[in-house]
Amino acid sequence: MELIKNLQWRYAVKKYSDAPVSEDKVGQIIEAVNLTASSCGIQPYRMIVVTDPEIRQKLAEGSFNIQIKDSSHLLVFAACNTITNEYIADYVAMMEEQRRLETGALNDYRDTLAAHFSTQTPEQHAIWSGKQTYIGLGTALIAAAELKVDTTPMEGFNPQAFNEILGLTAKNLHASVTLSLGYRDAANDYLASMPKVRLPIREFSTRV
Ligand SMILES: Cc1cc2nc3c(=O)[nH]c(=O)nc-3n(C[C@H](O)[C@H](O)[C@H](O)COP(=O)(O)O)c2cc1C
Repeated sequence: MELIKNLQWRYAVKKYSDAPVSEDKVGQIIEAVNLTASSCGIQPYRMIVVTDPEIRQKLAEGSFNIQIKDSSHLLVFAACNTITNEYIADYVAMMEEQRRLETGALNDYRDTLAAHFSTQTPEQHAIWSGKQTYIGLGTALIAAAELKVDTTPMEGFNPQAFNEILGLTAKNLHASVTLSLGYRDAANDYLASMPKVRLPIREFSTRV
């Protein structure tokens, strides 16, 4: 299975070369994330692609992860702060359109979702949305590995600074997790030649 080879090839890169990733490949990685699963199917997060060097310099301040600025592209997975009735109604209207259903055909689904989210606090909404971003992150890691694009998933960043610099709060979003894209500087990355560390499969996975 080619996927296993790709996953053995990938690792969380510490040091990138200056080589840029083509916009075509970045587009394919984003498309893969857009196609992945989300709970209730309402994609409660957005992806921000950051390339501007000044913005990336600011985002990297105070973080031990130099990959935030020293990589080709930085993807920020920004989760919804709250799931509003308006968000649900807009998304369900898009479902009706894309599935060529009559307007109002999915009203029951819309109302069920609205009733469900109305029982939850904004904090619960944000936690739920944040979990969905990690499904996207996993998909992006796999897609990038297939394209032989290197990556680093990162939680080591200042979420408040990201929200402010990227204007996320005003969009009802918050930075959840990030992924840098680029090409490894194998000669200067101590991890490039290190074997992967993983549990033996029999310990990791059991059958009952
Ligand atoms: C959600 C998440 C957050 C991570 N945050 C960081 C980080 O902030 N900085 C970093 O260098 N690596 C980070 N990593 C990379 C992990 O350390 C790495 O995936 C793990 O050690 C396994 O190694 P491998 O990915 O190279 O196989 C993160 C990984 C995940 C999945």
